[in-house]
Amino acid sequence: MMRDMVRKFAQNEIAPRAAEIDRTHRFPRENLEKMAALGLMGVPIPEEWGGAGCDFLSYIITVEEISRACASTGVILAVHTSLGCFSTLYFGTEEQKKRYLTKLATGEYLGAFALTEANAGSDPANLSTTARLEGGCYIVNGSKIFITSGGEADVYVTFVRTAPGRGYQGITCLLVDRDTPGFTIGKKEEKMGLHGSATTELIFDNARVPEENRLGVENEGFKVAMALLDGGRIGIGAQGLGIARAALDAALDYAKQRVQFGRPIAEHQAVQFMLADMATRVDAARLLVYRAARRRDMGLSYTKEASMAKLYATDTAMQVTTDAVQILGGYGYCQEYPVERYMRDAKITQIYEGTNQIQRLVIAKQLLK
Ligand code: CAA
Repeated sequence: MMRDMVRKFAQNEIAPRAAEIDRTHRFPRENLEKMAALGLMGVPIPEEWGGAGCDFLSYIITVEEISRACASTGVILAVHTSLGCFSTLYFGTEEQKKRYLTKLATGEYLGAFALTEANAGSDPANLSTTARLEGGCYIVNGSKIFITSGGEADVYVTFVRTAPGRGYQGITCLLVDRDTPGFTIGKKEEKMGLHGSATTELIFDNARVPEENRLGVENEGFKVAMALLDGGRIGIGAQGLGIARAALDAALDYAKQRVQFGRPIAEHQAVQFMLADMATRVDAARLLVYRAARRRDMGLSYTKEASMAKLYATDTAMQVTTDAVQILGGYGYCQEYPVERYMRDAKITQIYEGTNQIQRLVIAKQLLK
């Protein structure tokens, strides 16, 4: 039921605008408003906190279907839910849940996640944005880069250094409101793809964040980030899966219609073999992504499975979108067809929420422990 409802909505309301959003680099605010009206901004969050009260798998299917229509909208939703909503649900006090989660889960607020810095990407334990407690406020100084929904989000789950020289044991998580004094939005990136998703720098210049906005225990923020990213990586796997599915569908449609050497190219074995490999990879990716989500719903460990799902589904997105461009040939390379956008959008899924090289480290560590 969930898939049918989200698919119909995504294909009718989101997909028709995706090319224009890509072309104009416009933040798709109206998509988020429509999704909020349907309860899609807090799918796996309990109803008592304003969510839809569904399981994690339902949320993953939502990200898959939305991303199949528009990958920019997909990542905004995935970061908002996996990293924004779950931060307060899992680590927030009652007060923080009342103040933030109810607004995040209904879509009144949009959430962002601020971990990455210029010198701390794959290695966030090395981050250097500082915070010191003074008169009931954390005074924050430094900057973050590549922040999804920067400038558009209302609340930023931000990781800061509260104990210098202590590596991952000196990091604290703060909830930073958009209008915090001393907090500003810096440069907006011009990216290869995901043009509808705003990616910006965040600047903290003696920003004053109230002590009651600390999420969890001081100096234990690194584990908050890692735990949230475990779930986030299933979401990005679902985004890759949605993009791959869109590319496969486009390639199938085209191959059945395009006639060369007197018959549709789908009747040539060279194209059939490509389509068969693409479909097999998409199905395998789906099984890995759903397994990770199911394990999470069942209360089982899922760190390894989340990384496997992210790794495989996003590599699949890159491979399948590249093959779709190949099947469409010259048309595939032109903006008249959507597959070149799918290919540009797919690339980042192998990079963010932990590069696919980092996913291999996580998988190996879990295997060997
Ligand atoms: N859950 C809970 N705790 C965890 C954990 C997890 N999944 N993984 C590690 N930890 C804990 C460890 O147990 C350890 O604590 P103890 O010593 O008390 O046991 C502590 O964290 C440090 O662990 P490691 O020694 O393994 O840490 P590390 O510094 O070697 O880093 C890493 C490990 C996996 C490489 C990690 O740094 C990492 O994930 N890097 C990638 C960063 C990333 O994914 N960034 C994404 C940015 S957000 C984004 O991209 C959003 C977007 O825009 C789409």
